[in-house]
Amino acid sequence: MKVLVLLAACFAATLAFDIPEPYKWDESFKVDYEKLDEQHKGLFQAIFDVCAAPADAAALAHLKDVIEKHFRFEEGMMTAADYAGYADHKKAHDGFEARLKEGQVPVAADDVKAAKEWLVNHIKGVDFKYKTLL
Ligand SMILES: [Fe+2]
Ligand SMILES: [Fe+2]
Repeated sequence: MKVLVLLAACFAATLAFDIPEPYKWDESFKVDYEKLDEQHKGLFQAIFDVCAAPADAAALAHLKDVIEKHFRFEEGMMTAADYAGYADHKKAHDGFEARLKEGQVPVAADDVKAAKEWLVNHIKGVDFKYKTLL
């Protein structure tokens, strides 16, 4: 019984948030800042496009571009608001960006899956912490 409880806890920790299928932004991802929500929608779409065409260099370049623009914009809002969680948040952005920069076509299915999960977990687990504080 104890093992089952432990197992359940592991799954809860690793599968904290559902990955939308098809991969698309929905209201459960709302951070309640219009520009950020719009940008997040674009990130879902950009990852979806890479998933649909993993050998398409333009799709990957677009994803890198929208990620960079979104991170800088979001970081700008956090620093402007003197947001206390900025340093940790910035580290999370930098880590993902570094991995993404190394990405080349054709993008491996595992890397697409990792990106899908990262975005979902980042928005709900990290971005959500700045709600109402920016
Ligand atoms: Fe973020
Ligand atoms: Fe974000």
